[in-house]
Amino acid sequence: MASGTEILFRPCEVGALALPNRFVMAPMTRNFSPDGIPSAGVADYYRRRAEAEVGLIVTEGIGVDHPAAVGRETMGGGASPVMHGEAALARWRAVVDGVHEAGGKIIPQLWHQGVIRVPGTGYHPDTPSARPSGIWGPLDKAMVPPDYLEQVREPTAPLTENEIADIIAGFARSAANARAAGFDGIALHGAHGYLIDSFLWGETNLRTDRWGGALPDRARLAAELVRAVRAATAPDFPIMFRYSQWKLQDYDARNAQTPDELESLLTPIVEAGVDLFDVSTRVFSAPAFDGSDLSLAGWVKRLTGRPTIAVGGVGLSRDLQSSFAQPTVMTNNLSLVAERLAKGEFDLVGVGRALLMDPQWVCKMRKGESVNPFRLEAYGSLD
Ligand SMILES: Cc1cc2nc3c(=O)[nH]c(=O)nc-3n(C[C@H](O)[C@H](O)[C@H](O)COP(=O)(O)O)c2cc1C
Repeated sequence: MASGTEILFRPCEVGALALPNRFVMAPMTRNFSPDGIPSAGVADYYRRRAEAEVGLIVTEGIGVDHPAAVGRETMGGGASPVMHGEAALARWRAVVDGVHEAGGKIIPQLWHQGVIRVPGTGYHPDTPSARPSGIWGPLDKAMVPPDYLEQVREPTAPLTENEIADIIAGFARSAANARAAGFDGIALHGAHGYLIDSFLWGETNLRTDRWGGALPDRARLAAELVRAVRAATAPDFPIMFRYSQWKLQDYDARNAQTPDELESLLTPIVEAGVDLFDVSTRVFSAPAFDGSDLSLAGWVKRLTGRPTIAVGGVGLSRDLQSSFAQPTVMTNNLSLVAERLAKGEFDLVGVGRALLMDPQWVCKMRKGESVNPFRLEAYGSLD
């Protein structure tokens, strides 16, 4: 390992999680679960990483028990897994057992696609997509395929109170199912423009009732979901919340323009009992606000007092979005990661694509061995 990076490879305790090192596999959609049921290869895919020193895995986004949770989205897809029903839960139990046998921990990312789901798709095509204010978002900023945009651009009916209550109940049922299947915590996908984030963002949430308006009201759904998941699991069951400023509708979007606004948005989620924030940025070290070089994970930790995961570009020369268009290579940037972590800016390090390229990325980095090269095709494979 490169000198100065030892801190990343030592055991640590973050909240209730005792971990062998600081690396967390970031959630990555796989679409290898026809009818919502993970295929046999899914268990092997996660187990391979756990066997190679990935101490904590956050799964791909998994649809919650609500008919509009998952369908086709920006990059296609349609074989998303779900966290309900006997067949899917049996497969998840096998996934969890495999990771545990290999000495790892695994947390499912509970997902509701909300506005991003193409209406008329998914396992219940007749159910309308869930949108806080009926709109998908500003149509002129998105870097999404034009045929996708055509299918989501028409406004639909905003969610009603009863529909919001049904969604919250669906998250709670899925959280209870996940705990019963043996998972080590719950991760809520509160980022990237999907349902929870579409309530947090002023461009998609134009509501004037208790679910919209001021920042703490825009955070009400997120907070209610944390409360519901807590009630459906246990007081000490780790709950992680993924937060981002960027969205699929607009990479440059910001829910919060200033640290004060960020604090107003996140405080209700903290008070609801979240344990850990997974802070999704394109580049983990990018300054979040003018006038400071602190990253978004650093700000979230400072403002909430909760531990954070930093993610974005670890082990790679380019961020996810630019990697589609520009040559990208594997690179060892762990010295910068370690420097910031040692200063207390964040607690854990999310690794996405590097672990798709090479399941053994963590242990190879520890041993100073060369890792597999970058291949764009790995984004869509279950190797
Ligand atoms: C193929 C692929 C699928 C992804 N799916 C998800 C997902 O289901 N949920 C999520 O929160 N982020 C998802 N992401 C984003 C990653 O979790 C991560 O934040 C991003 O890739 C940046 O980290 P990296 O630079 O280490 O890859 C996905 C990324 C990739 C490459």
